[in-house]
Amino acid sequence: MRIGILTGGGDAPGLNAAIRGVARRAFQLGHRVSGVQNGWAGCLEDGMIDELSPEGVRGILPLGGTILGTSRTNPLKVKDGVATVIRVLRRNGIDGIVPIGGDDTLSVAAAMHEAGFPTVGVPKTIDNDLSLTEFCIGFDTAVGVVTEALDRLHTTASAHHRVMVVEVMGRDTGWVALVGGLAGGADLIVIPEFELTLREVVGHLYRRRGDGKLFSIIVIAEGAHIPELEEEAGAGQEKDAFGHVQLAKRGIGDALARRVERETGFETRVTVLGHLQRGGSPTPTDRIWATRLGVRAAELIAEGQSGVIPIRRNGEVDIVPLADVVKETRRVPKELYDLSKVFE
Ligand code: F6P
Repeated sequence: MRIGILTGGGDAPGLNAAIRGVARRAFQLGHRVSGVQNGWAGCLEDGMIDELSPEGVRGILPLGGTILGTSRTNPLKVKDGVATVIRVLRRNGIDGIVPIGGDDTLSVAAAMHEAGFPTVGVPKTIDNDLSLTEFCIGFDTAVGVVTEALDRLHTTASAHHRVMVVEVMGRDTGWVALVGGLAGGADLIVIPEFELTLREVVGHLYRRRGDGKLFSIIVIAEGAHIPELEEEAGAGQEKDAFGHVQLAKRGIGDALARRVERETGFETRVTVLGHLQRGGSPTPTDRIWATRLGVRAAELIAEGQSGVIPIRRNGEVDIVPLADVVKETRRVPKELYDLSKVFE
């Protein structure tokens, strides 16, 4: 058979490892592979699908980004979008597709399966917010970037006795902020799941000063809400094709830093890590799990399965329905959040 591969949504370190895993296993099983350029956008027009050769996926394991390109194009928002995607794939001789992506890409994948086109997903998102799976490609690398940034910010914060506010990605969840903040020894972590008021943040900073701690590191998720800052941080309402507000444009980190300095008089600086969290070479964990899940996805589609996705559950590869991983956003549980409270 001919297996198509595409990468959709925000790029993430480990996508190339997954592409390599799908392709190499497909070749080993005697199948042919095509790469779709730029996510679902490449299935809505002609000329965006090319044959992938074993040479074409050589040397890509350590590379960030995606050799196929990506986009946030949503065929569900295009008239007859899914039918067009299926028509273009069939015209290119593709018998089954492996979309690698997060909730947006995979919700289209679930619709493809429902429309009768063989589809097997692979979970990817630095936000780590897909249901059921303990692993999403890119999260581990993003957490590594946050951790290194916090290590670096600690020394400069301590030298200048400053408050450092560090804004990280994660959309509507606080996984990157919480896990990165724990790993990097943040003094306070503010995430969408557990709201804090400005008064609580300021109270925390005064308490630390009172204890003789002259600097503080606050990690805040881009989607976090602080009631007193809603007006200042509510401005950016630009949305992407899947209807998500572009949260970085809210500037919650900047708004918090300004208000903290105004309220306390403590010298405060802000660092927005932004797309640094999505760049560069994947960690060994991202490489290995992208490889395991990619290989399994190739096997599933080759076996004739559809509407499923390999995930990590209890440390092992498990197979679940595609529709189930996008049913709801997985949020940081209280138990994990409470762990950060031990170090405040
Ligand atoms: O979903 C991944 C993500 O990096 C989010 O954490 C962030 O809100 C969003 O994508 C940023 O999107 P863009 O790359 O379009 O700026």
